[in-house]
Parts: sequence; C-alpha cells; structure tokens
Amino acid sequence: MSARILDGKTISADLRAGVKARVEALLAGGGRRPGLAVVLLGRDPASEVYVRNKRNACAQVGFYSELHGLSEASSQGQLLALIDALNADSRIDGILIQLPLPDRIDTEAVIERILPTKDVDGFHPYNIGRLALRTPSVLRPCTPKGIMTLLAHTGRALEGLDAVVVGESDIVGRPMALELLAARCTITVCHEYTRDLAEKTRSADVLVTAVGRPRFIPGDWVKEGALAIDVGINRTTDGSLVGDLDFASVSRRAAWITPVPGGVGPMTIASLLENTLQAARLQLGEPG
Ligand code: GUN
Repeated sequence: MSARILDGKTISADLRAGVKARVEALLAGGGRRPGLAVVLLGRDPASEVYVRNKRNACAQVGFYSELHGLSEASSQGQLLALIDALNADSRIDGILIQLPLPDRIDTEAVIERILPTKDVDGFHPYNIGRLALRTPSVLRPCTPKGIMTLLAHTGRALEGLDAVVVGESDIVGRPMALELLAARCTITVCHEYTRDLAEKTRSADVLVTAVGRPRFIPGDWVKEGALAIDVGINRTTDGSLVGDLDFASVSRRAAWITPVPGGVGPMTIASLLENTLQAARLQLGEPG
C-alpha cells in the first residue's frame, strides 16, 4: 500500500479562507474585529518563530492582534497582572501564552488565570473538563482539534476504531485522547513507562505520534491501512525537518499519512484562528 497524503497545508488554507470570509461578514454587519493577544516571555528562538507565524496568520484573516513580549526576568506576578488586564480588555477575544514558560513560573496558575471564554488554546481546566465531558461549545486545544479535522478529510468513520496516541503531554497527547474518545474510538495512550510500544502501535487503526524523536516509529510498527498522524517536528543533524514517523516506510503500510512539514503544523494555526473567532462570539454572549 502507498499512503495518501493528508495535506494540512491545503486543508488549512481552506479553513483560513473561511475564517477570513466570516470576519469580513462580521465587519460588514458593523461588528468589531476579533482580537488575539499573544504573550511571549523571554527570547526562545523556536517560540519566537511560532509566535510570528501565529500573528501573521491573524493579519491574513483580518484579526486585530497584539504581542506582549515580556523580558526573561519578568515575575509571575507581572504575568498574572498582564492576564488580568487582557481579561478585562474588550478588544481582546483570545489570550495565548506561548509555552513552555520558565520553570520558576507556575504554568498551571498562569493558565487558570485566563478567562475560560478567552482561552483560545483550550488549556484551561474548565475547557479541558468540558472536552472530557463532551460538552459542546468548548474552546478545544488547537493541535488535537486540527487533527480531528484532518481525520474527517479521510472520509473514514472513526466509531469503533482502535486509536493509539504516543505521548501524554497536556498540549497534545491528553486532549487528543479525549477528542478520539468523544469520536467513539477505543483509546490507548502510550508514554515513557509503556511496555512493548511496538505491540501497541501495531494495533492502531488511528496512530497519533507526539514524541519529539526523529523517525522514531518505523513502518513495521504500523498496521496495514492505518491513519497515521505525525505531530513531531524534529530537526535532523543535516538541518532537515522530519516527524516522529519514518515517513518512507510508514507510507508503504498506512492508508493515509501526514507529511512533516505541511501536515499537522498548519492545522494548529488554522484551529487557533477558528477558536479566536469562536471566542469573539462568546464575548458577545452568543453560543460558541
Ligand atoms: N507551545 C507549543 N505548542 C503550543 C500551543 O499550541 N500553544 C501554546 N500556547 N504554546 C505552545
């Protein structure tokens, strides 16, 4: 079998065009431009690139956005005070704190300070709890949400499939498992204590990898006909970007595969734009 490519670049461009059209309709109706505040503490080069990409995407669809670049030495109190101000700012619909934060900062306290209706990352315990309970109108974490959109594009019914998520992070692995459970898959979440990982991945009809190790999963760990979703973005010693899946050998087994780059990454940004638009509706008291 030679896998079909799940082209996140093309699918996300369609989603972005849809958001742009809805912003234009909002403005034509006399509404306010949706606004996103992005907070970046310190000068981590990778985080700077992510933040720049997010703000460029906002500009493309016509959102207002502002960047709050805090110095590396900023205190937790300063960060919390900024969040309080953004919570109260009527121009701001969504607040995104770029992670990871330095160890000296209590990330949970920071995330819990964001109003759940402005939590466009979907990381607040209120939003994660609603995802766990399958409550509608929740701001959903962007990467898993984008992956569910990609899976819908395969046309494959997910009910009853065995889904294996490799990685248990708060940003991807855990909310991914909740999304797949809500879609009525049978879920296995693998992590560093998992025994016989290959046995688990070989059982997956849907395989999602978020490990951060280049070409970690070879083709013979993947079930024939699987939907293979690669969240990893890893730089190799020769400077190229590769995923957690060994693309060449996994492509010979899977039915569908996401490329790296151009698979999951652009979908995360498209989901952020959708969430910001949804948050703007929530600020107006409309159902998300
Ligand atoms: N760092 C890596 N991924 C993400 C994300 O999706 N949101 C935020 N806020 N920080 C991140």
